[in-house]
Amino acid sequence: MQKVCDFIKKCETYYLATVDGDQPRVRPFGTVNIFDGKLYIQTGKSKDVSKQIQANPKVELCCFAEGTWLRVAGELVRDDNRDAKKAMLDAYPMLRGMYSEDDDNTEVLYFKNATATFSSFTAAPEVINF
Ligand SMILES: Cc1cc2nc3c(=O)[nH]c(=O)nc-3n(C[C@H](O)[C@H](O)[C@H](O)COP(=O)(O)O)c2cc1C
Repeated sequence: MQKVCDFIKKCETYYLATVDGDQPRVRPFGTVNIFDGKLYIQTGKSKDVSKQIQANPKVELCCFAEGTWLRVAGELVRDDNRDAKKAMLDAYPMLRGMYSEDDDNTEVLYFKNATATFSSFTAAPEVINF
């Protein structure tokens, strides 16, 4: 999981796909953090992306750097634990202009039943489950 988190940070931006009825939706994301042995992302509960995840938690993200691309497929679980939100905002202090661990909007979610696949044109895929 640490390797997955480090690679996403190296990419800086990943693209998070959700399901909206029968329509895939995708957008750029950047937040990622390991807390309590789980891989978290951050968003706002008021966003469409959050509403889509609550309706259908299956997501996939993709990012690319230095000839390797990573896909992480799995389910996202909302975690209202204040410490999990604080850890995320401490890792991204610039988000504190918009979010606080004590507001009603800040949302962190962790991956469950996740399959991370590193791929390239030159090596066999590497699969990590967590
Ligand atoms: C580089 C980049 C990184 C971003 N990272 C995040 C993020 O980690 N969390 C988030 O909620 N929005 C992030 N955004 C903003 C979302 O892409 C934007 O709010 C998007 O519209 C959310 O999807 P939705 O419209 O389907 O709700 C980021 C935008 C950019 C350009």
